[in-house]
Amino acid sequence: MTNIINFGNGSFMYDKHISKTFDNFTVNNKNKEAVEKCGDFLNKKDTNIYLWGKAGCGKTHLLCAVANEVRKEERILFYRMIDFLNMIRERVMADDHEIIRDLLDSEKPFFIDDFGTEKLTEFVFEKVYDFFDLVEVMERKKIMITSNYSISEMMDRVSDRIASRIVGNFEVVKIGGEDRRVEQ
Ligand SMILES: Nc1ncnc2c1ncn2[C@@H]1O[C@H](COP(=O)(O)OP(=O)(O)OP(=O)(O)O)[C@@H](O)[C@H]1O
Ligand SMILES: [Mg+2]
Repeated sequence: MTNIINFGNGSFMYDKHISKTFDNFTVNNKNKEAVEKCGDFLNKKDTNIYLWGKAGCGKTHLLCAVANEVRKEERILFYRMIDFLNMIRERVMADDHEIIRDLLDSEKPFFIDDFGTEKLTEFVFEKVYDFFDLVEVMERKKIMITSNYSISEMMDRVSDRIASRIVGNFEVVKIGGEDRRVEQ
C-alpha cells in the first residue's frame, strides 16, 4: 500500500511526492529559471508562484521539492487539484461554505498540483473563482500552483477573470524541457 502523510482537511502527500526533492532534481538550461524562482519562494515567503509547462517537464517534482523543504519548518497544505475540489465538494455538502476562506486564513503555505485540467462544471468554476478572488482580497501569499496551461490558454479555455487574478497575484513562472516520462 502507498503511504501518505496527512496534513488534515483532506490534504496529503503520497510517498511519490515525499521522495521528490531538490537533491534529485537535475537542473538544466530549460528549468534553471524555475528552480531559481522556487528558491526565492523559499527565502522570501511573501510571494505566490504559478508554475506552468508541458507534461513531464518537472512541475510536480519542483512543487514537491519546495513543499518538502517548507514542511521541515512549518505546517503546510498540499493538494492535487482533484483532491482539493473533492474536499470542497464534501464540505459544501456538509453545509460548510467557508472552507476556502478558512484554509486561506490559516496562513499555512499552500500547494496545489495540476490546476486547470479538471472539468469546468459550474461548481468547479464557482469554487476556483472564489479561491483566486479570496487570494486577491485577502492578499494571501505563500501559495504555489502548477498547471499545464499558460495564462493565455487559461484565458481561452478556463476564464479570463480567473486568469486575470492569477496574473495580478502570482509570479507566473514557465518551466521548459522535454517530457521526462517519455525519456525514461
Ligand atoms: N529535472 C528533473 N530532474 C530529475 N527528475 C525529473 C526532472 N524533471 C522531471 N523529473 C521526473 O520526471 C517525472 C515526471 O515529472 P513531473 O511529474 O514533475 O512532471 P509534470 O511537469 O508534473 O508533468 P504533468 O504536467 O504531466 O503533471 C517524475 O518522475 C520526475 O521526478
Ligand atoms: Mg504533474
